[in-house]
Amino acid sequence: MITFKYYITTPLYYVNAKAHIGHAYTNIATDVLARWHRLKGEDVFFLTGTDEHGKKVETSAEKAKKDPQKFVDEISKKFKDVWKTLNISYGSFIRTTDSKHKKAVYEVLRRMQDRGDIYKGVYEGWYCTPCESYWTETQLKEDKCPSCGRSVEKLKEESYFFKLSKYQKPLLELYKNNPGFISPEHRKQEIINRVKEGLRDLSITRTSFDWGIKYPGDDKHIVYVWVDALTNYISALGFPDSNNYKKYWPADVHILGKEISWFHAVIWPAMLLSIGEKPPKKLFIHGWLTIDGKKMSKSVGNVIDPVEMSKKYSSDSLRYFLLREIPFGHDGDFSEKTLKEKINNELVADLGNLVNRTLTMTEKFKGKLEGKDELSKEFNLKKIEGFIDNYEFHHALDEIWNFIRAANRYINDKEPWKLEGKELANVLYNLLESLRIISILVSSFMPDTSIKMNKQLGVKTGSLKDCKFGKLSGKPKKGDLLFQKIKT
Ligand code: MSP
Repeated sequence: MITFKYYITTPLYYVNAKAHIGHAYTNIATDVLARWHRLKGEDVFFLTGTDEHGKKVETSAEKAKKDPQKFVDEISKKFKDVWKTLNISYGSFIRTTDSKHKKAVYEVLRRMQDRGDIYKGVYEGWYCTPCESYWTETQLKEDKCPSCGRSVEKLKEESYFFKLSKYQKPLLELYKNNPGFISPEHRKQEIINRVKEGLRDLSITRTSFDWGIKYPGDDKHIVYVWVDALTNYISALGFPDSNNYKKYWPADVHILGKEISWFHAVIWPAMLLSIGEKPPKKLFIHGWLTIDGKKMSKSVGNVIDPVEMSKKYSSDSLRYFLLREIPFGHDGDFSEKTLKEKINNELVADLGNLVNRTLTMTEKFKGKLEGKDELSKEFNLKKIEGFIDNYEFHHALDEIWNFIRAANRYINDKEPWKLEGKELANVLYNLLESLRIISILVSSFMPDTSIKMNKQLGVKTGSLKDCKFGKLSGKPKKGDLLFQKIKT
């Protein structure tokens, strides 16, 4: 049997502050995909990590009165702790301060130079430190950074440049020949329109700060943080000649937020074309979360801590909510009020209730649990798979919930409390089989819940091929309620 590989990545998180719900959103969505592909039996390489160089991090370390390396070590560890709380099943964690990463960056620069794609010049422009980006006068929006709206400062420095302009045509060809390269469609159009307007060569070194990878052969230059960070997607695999690199590259998908689409859709593939490596197969660009309708920001004081939220409501509830509530690829709103409603109306009333009712009846039943399939028609695995393959998590969950609700209706229709013997066994068999399958279907979204369900059902962890009737084994045993009703 052929085992397909699946290489999926998140962006690397800046370590200038701790993780918030926006970061958690990217990682949860990526985790769902990684887990889903494991359920399919694929060989998954799931990469996340931290972006640790640049002026922004240097300034944060200074403010904290810490040596930058010590500072990044601490924050990077905190990111790992958050991912543990949220059950993010990454297989590899790359830090841009790792020595293997630095080696890969040198190799990338060497190849770009060999190609004749790097030259020395002078850069003058408006710099946004939070975004670590240079902007031209015309790109500014009301004199502020067009990406984040914050103040910019004028900088003039000697710099090495990458001949990005040379790659305008090859990039447009890449987009044309690979229609699925950038999703969603409207994001792809934005990128194509901007690339068609023309590309300026990219300044790839800085001299205004120290904290970063030194440019080979010219120590006062530091490699631009984006050239450094983007290389993580191959350095983590051991680029250029490791077996992992040969096996997993090109990435099947990079997941990222909309504000960093330009770097991933233009600069990254141009770098890869320059060094003679394949571009990733796909970029999926998600939207941004607002909080109760407002932009999340420290100054407004509405930054949501995902760890606090999961301690309050469970990490599974948070994971479920984010993917059920917001169509992936669109902007969406996080509201604690809606989170509580979803927990009560869907997790407690539908799924929790189904498990509780079924296990209570099963515990009282002493006969053999057997019957004939009356419920598998209520779910369509192909449809669910199709939605997930299209990154439509909310539709996939809708479909799974239709099945859960159908099973609850089945109890109401059959009135098992009035039945006994073979008739009762048949109803319980159908419910237990449905729950076993539901547990597999929800496991990527809510891994803890799935484990709890399997324990109560007395079954082993299943994979997608077990999503069919006729596989029930083990001894069910009722446990604690899966979800607690929340006071609203
Ligand atoms: N370090 C760069 C990425 C380098 S990748 C080679 C970076 N880091 S970040 O920490 O600022 O952002 C990382 C991810 O968090 C992005 O995908 C971004 O979209 C996501 N989010 C940050 N705030 C967000 C929201 N408010 N809502 C949703 N996601 C957001 O960019």
